[in-house]
Amino acid sequence: MSLSAADSMHIVGGSTSRKLAGELSQSIGGSISEVEVSRFPDDECYVRIHDRLEGENVVVVQTAWPDTSIVELMLLLDAVRDLNPSSVTTVVPYFGYARQDKRFNEGEPISARALARMIQSQSDKFITVDVHAPSVIDWFDRIPAQNVSAHAEIGKFLKRSGVEMVLSPDEGRWENAKRVAKVVECEADFLVKERVNGETVRMAPKSLDSAGRKVAIVDDIISTGGTIVKASEQLRKQGAARIIAVCTHGVFASNAIPRLKAACDEVHSTDTIENPTTAITVAPEVARAITDAAETPKAT
Ligand code: R5P
Repeated sequence: MSLSAADSMHIVGGSTSRKLAGELSQSIGGSISEVEVSRFPDDECYVRIHDRLEGENVVVVQTAWPDTSIVELMLLLDAVRDLNPSSVTTVVPYFGYARQDKRFNEGEPISARALARMIQSQSDKFITVDVHAPSVIDWFDRIPAQNVSAHAEIGKFLKRSGVEMVLSPDEGRWENAKRVAKVVECEADFLVKERVNGETVRMAPKSLDSAGRKVAIVDDIISTGGTIVKASEQLRKQGAARIIAVCTHGVFASNAIPRLKAACDEVHSTDTIENPTTAITVAPEVARAITDAAETPKAT
């Protein structure tokens, strides 16, 4: 069996991804299922889907962060499966735990793999966005799995903002900055970052042609904001006219947003994690992956 945009689809949006679920239903023409999510007095999660899904193609959308969202995703998938759909596509816009993709010490789990195994056991197809460690996709070894990129949508947004230069905060993500810059039609470069510990980074001085220009720093994740704040300090020293921080996944741990707003002129993120800085939707790319006819198998 394969899906096309013409097949009817039901979108089950979890509480972390309601906005994106709505955008997806518009993009692919699917209906939104009525999903009830609440908490018991002891804070355990309750979910109920108020729709009949028998024989339907169902898309479950739920970001896997923070931890409570992972439990909700697990419960949604269990409820969906028991309603006998024809297929279940799971979209996890932000794949939490992707930075724990290796075992560093004996006795540790490979956390990202644990999450992948849970999702795979309940899904026929898997889609995520700008996953931090692309190796995560390899753990989906029994179902089609796809990592789609937000770079085109970020590029279109920055082009409308008149950005003149796109920077990656480290060399490792330079390819991403280049992809964004290609859409903006401007130059891309990278800064030189050294991580001291989980909360502290150093940014080595690097001469960039940023003086008097509107510069965007693009990263996959902003967590504590330390990386972007240091990058912004370098750019200020070099006379950048305006600094825009953009990420796919705005985790924004503790007081990251005020720190970033003090350091940059603008801060934006996509709707993989819905928050006050969300200005870009990844729906077009995710919709394309959902309706990719070649990729959808029969329910297991
Ligand atoms: C690192 O490899 C990532 O691409 C981000 O640069 C990092 O997760 C950002 O973390 P923070 O905001 O805590 O500096």
